Amino acid sequence: MAGSGTAHLRADDDVILRVEHLQVEYPAKAGLKVQAVAGISFDIRKGETLGFVGESGCGKSTTGRAVLQLPSPTAGSVLVQGKDLTKLSSRDMRRERTRLQMIFQDPMSSLNPRRRIRDSIREPLTIWGRDRGDGRQKVDQVLEQVGLDAAVVGDRFPSELSGGQCQRIAIARALIMEPALLICDEPVSALDVSVQAQILNLLEDLKEQYGLSMMFIAHDLAVVKNISDRVAVMYLGKLCEIADAETIAKRPAHPYTRELINAVPVPDPSIRRRSEQKAPAEVPSPLNPPSGCRFRTRCPRAEAVCAAEEPQFHKITDGHYVACHFPLQETPMVRTSAEPVGV
Ligand SMILES: Nc1ncnc2c1ncn2[C@@H]1O[C@H](COP(=O)(O)OP(=O)(O)OP(=O)(O)O)[C@@H](O)[C@H]1O
Ligand SMILES: [Mg+2]
Repeated sequence: MAGSGTAHLRADDDVILRVEHLQVEYPAKAGLKVQAVAGISFDIRKGETLGFVGESGCGKSTTGRAVLQLPSPTAGSVLVQGKDLTKLSSRDMRRERTRLQMIFQDPMSSLNPRRRIRDSIREPLTIWGRDRGDGRQKVDQVLEQVGLDAAVVGDRFPSELSGGQCQRIAIARALIMEPALLICDEPVSALDVSVQAQILNLLEDLKEQYGLSMMFIAHDLAVVKNISDRVAVMYLGKLCEIADAETIAKRPAHPYTRELINAVPVPDPSIRRRSEQKAPAEVPSPLNPPSGCRFRTRCPRAEAVCAAEEPQFHKITDGHYVACHFPLQETPMVRTSAEPVGV
């Protein structure tokens, strides 16, 4: 099947989410289809944060929503603790969705403007029959977890709070359901820079304290790499590289990952990177993606094979996988028994 393979998936009891060959198509004009997600696979372990990074339109949000079956993917499987969500009835899926909470870029839009904060956070408990008279206490507790004083914000309306406070409320509303997985889609992009760091720190603290498993989506690699254990790089509906965050930042193997790193602003403007001197190449349309490797039309290393064959994921080192015919980091040579050890 087309895709970037599954060589990077882990066989592990601790895997919370396992997505295989995920495909999402949207209908487009003239009977065409946009392949927003074109056969990707990944997994997330308990307590792990997997970051998703890539340019606008590469399919990050669609991937996050497809995990929640919003909408159901065109093909592929989404296993949460072994249960395939693509096979559930819509009724069972609604229940399952309570364990998969999502946080969005604009916190205001996820809160009812006419409902007081305390009631907004308590609402999912009530809907799902989990309020056994201790709802108010649970709300106060979860507000404290996100660094807010229930006595101060509990009776207010969203419009009376700042963007950062609203995002904390959205996180509290997700946490109260004790989710197995939290999907954060650009949770800080709409906030002031100073507030961004506070929300990122909060998410990190929650992860440490409660062993939260997270899918963290952002177009900014600098944001993603700090909060993520591993980072998955997406381009035009495909995954091109996956590795731990430090490896992605320091030893990228895919030419596209290097391009993303070079796009991160340099603190000292007198240091100009070479890639900044040329105009960025145009991103091809997902309606008509290039054959073979989708990045080849922008890739300085592309050769004939890149148009002819889609690169599959292969291992560079443990936990570091790349889908590229000519990666920047080569797979280490397998040492033969004749070679001396320790040289
Ligand atoms: N509801 C929809 N109907 C049709 N096409 C859609 C729909 N949602 C997304 N798309 C298309 O699917 C592709 C992937 O979009 P998606 O929103 O997942 O990208 P993204 O990586 O989240 O981008 P951004 O960084 O801008 O949020 C894009 O080409 C987009 O135009
Ligand atoms: Mg998006």
